[in-house]
Amino acid sequence: MSVTTMPLDQFVNDLKQMLTEASTAFDGAQTTDDLDAARIEFLGAKKGRLKAIQKSLGSIDKADKPAAGKELNATKNAINAAFESAKERLAGGASGPSNDPNFDPTLPGQRPLIGNLHPITQTINELKDIMGRLGFTHAEGPEIEDDYHNFKALNIPTSHPARDPLDNFYLHTAQAQADSIGKELHNDNPLLLRSQTSTVQIRVMETTKPPVRIFSLGRVYRPDTPDWSHYPMFHQMEGLMVDENVTLADLKTVLKLFAQSYLGGDVPIRIRPSFFPFTEPSVEADYFWDGKWVEFGGAGIVDPNVLSAVGYDPEAVTGFAFGLGVERLCMIRHQITDIRYLFTNDVRFLRQF
Ligand code: PHE
Repeated sequence: MSVTTMPLDQFVNDLKQMLTEASTAFDGAQTTDDLDAARIEFLGAKKGRLKAIQKSLGSIDKADKPAAGKELNATKNAINAAFESAKERLAGGASGPSNDPNFDPTLPGQRPLIGNLHPITQTINELKDIMGRLGFTHAEGPEIEDDYHNFKALNIPTSHPARDPLDNFYLHTAQAQADSIGKELHNDNPLLLRSQTSTVQIRVMETTKPPVRIFSLGRVYRPDTPDWSHYPMFHQMEGLMVDENVTLADLKTVLKLFAQSYLGGDVPIRIRPSFFPFTEPSVEADYFWDGKWVEFGGAGIVDPNVLSAVGYDPEAVTGFAFGLGVERLCMIRHQITDIRYLFTNDVRFLRQF
């Protein structure tokens, strides 16, 4: 049986002819059904016309095969591209050139709206950065805490007003009611939303041997009525350093370096005597900014009872701790006059940062 060979010219002509017809069919398709029918006709895997021509490749003279294969591939790509652009056109795609005669390609494009980080997030990032440079490692703790970590281990006795159900978001309502009328506790370790980040000190010291040099930063909750300076949820940053011979002088140095890094320049700071159950002595720290003394936060030397509660030897190590309000730092820096702006998510406010 003689095998007829197909001349290369004819093969190429067939391809060209088919490409023209396919492009016409794709471009003329008015619906996705039209387009699909055209796709099957030309690109169908079994009976498509491209496939049929591909089969005739077998009857091309051996010497012409590489050239024929190349043509075949080029045509295949061109047909596929014609199909894809028809598909996009039917999908209402905006990526091709517009057919609108009024379209002016020289007009400036529409600037995409780029979001930015919330001012509190920006402040948090900056605080983390500063604390990292001061040699403190970031530590985290849960926002749902138990009485032990929020109060007991921090040397806050059962009778202390800070435990009042009216001042805390307890999660066990029955427990809170029992507490409020002075009834005996059913559960001596009720859960609550943490009211301070000092809880993280305890969690870290429970699992780490001294020396410790950490900071934690996160949300705390107190049922305060919102006003310009209060909100039921806010952020605190807590620093803790425990080692041999840590003193109040170390605390003051760290606070001073911190204030200078955050506010810039030589910011005077001062400490005043205060009281916290978990520090002794306790201080209130202020910095001088914009012509007046501004409250920084609470601080002090970690109470030996706290060190004992986590299994440290208060004779061998000492430590300092401090806690700052993040919102206040953010508000001072940006001259924000009401904390509630930070949580209303009004873009007219947020866009400014
Ligand atoms: N936890 C205290 C508060 O919420 C602040 C503080 C932290 C004070 C660490 C002393 C040491 O007010």
